[in-house]
Order: sequence, then C-alpha cells, then structure tokens
Amino acid sequence: MEAKIAPSMLSSDFANLASEAERMLRCGADWLHMDIMDGHFVPNLTIGAPVIESLRKHTRAYLDCHLMVTNPLDYVEPLGKAGASCFTFHVEASKDNWQELIKRIKSRGMRAGVALKPGTPVEDVYPLIEDENPVEMVLVMTVEPGFGGQKFMPEMMDKVRALRKKYPSLDIEVDGGLGPSTIDVAASAGANCIVAGSSVFGAAEPSQVISLLRKSVEE
Ligand code: DX5
Ligand code: ZN
Repeated sequence: MEAKIAPSMLSSDFANLASEAERMLRCGADWLHMDIMDGHFVPNLTIGAPVIESLRKHTRAYLDCHLMVTNPLDYVEPLGKAGASCFTFHVEASKDNWQELIKRIKSRGMRAGVALKPGTPVEDVYPLIEDENPVEMVLVMTVEPGFGGQKFMPEMMDKVRALRKKYPSLDIEVDGGLGPSTIDVAASAGANCIVAGSSVFGAAEPSQVISLLRKSVEE
C-alpha cells in the first residue's frame, strides 16, 4: 500500500515552525502531522487554527491535523479557513455528532478522519467507516494522546489488523512511539500512514528514518 510518512511537528522547534516544516519536506515527508490539543481532552495545550493559518502561508504541504479536543465541531470552520488538509477528530469526543462533523469537515474541503484512544474498542469506529458519508482515515493511537516521546503499545496492533481485514483500501494511521524499532510491527499489521515525532526529529539524519519507515510500509 502507498505509504504516507507524517513527521509530528509537536517534536519540532515551534519557534521555527516554517523552517522545520520545510526541512521535513526536504527530508522526504509526505504529510506534516499537526497535533492540536485543548488542555481539556488531554492534559497538554499546543496550537490552534491561527498557527495553522500562519504555517499555511509558508507551505503548500498536506497538513494532517489531529484534534485532541473536547468540542471538535467548534474547530471545523476555523481550521478549514486556516488551510488544514485533513481534520481527524476523536471518536470519544464525538459520540452524538459525528455525522454532522463529517459533513461539515468535507463541506469545508478537508478530508475527514477519526481517531481512537488506546482504551477505546475498535468497533466504536465501524459505523463511521460504514456510513453513507464516511470518514476517509482511521487513526489508531499507539500511546495515550497528549505527549510525544512515549512508548509504542504493540497490543494496539489487534485494532489495526481488524481494520485492515475489514477495509482493505482504508487509510489507517498509527501515532505514538513509531520509529525504526517499531515500524515493522505496525506495517505488517496493516498501517500505511505513519506519524513519527521523536524518532524523526531526534535523528541525526531524518531523511534516513523517513525512507526506512516508507520502505517498511511499501515492501
Ligand atoms: C501524541 C501525539 C503524537 C506525538 C507523537 O498525543 O498525537 O502525534 O507527537 O510523537 P512520538 O512519535 O514521539 O511518539
Ligand atoms: Zn498526533
């Protein structure tokens, strides 16, 4: 399957976001993963639409936005205007309004994705994939959302395998603790979109890590 390698900009130097983005694209990144946290859904606070809008002025890159927020609906219009490419909300934060969310995300010209936390059963996202207006990507969290640099949870691969078996052409993204030592497990389970923060930004040669991740998915 085609790989999408998405460095998590949470591990970048936020004070130099545009040049960090540029550096990752030069190193072979397909997407830039943008972690949007509201200090409520997760115990950390990062960036919002104004920063996405600023970054958009410097790059045409695909901005893969991961919304770790309690009220995702409030973010659709501002992020659409800011130039986000994909809007991935958490299933735990959209129990009653996911149909409305998907509709508004798409009408703003963004792709729609759904994410699930480690404790959430994979069955919870099936209705969103099988709806007549479905999500286009599922993000399986492989750490508790909130912070970069945590340890990959291999037991989450059961979810990835179940999704890949049921939906052969679905984009399945994994996020948290991905790097050279964990990619093979994730890729063979069926993940094709790979978020990697500390393993890419911490490397002497990020381009080598990115191409290694890609090779594992595509071979
Ligand atoms: C965690 C974020 C991740 C994080 C990944 O809540 O969703 O995108 O930045 O970082 P690493 O790759 O360091 O685990
Ligand atoms: Zn993320």
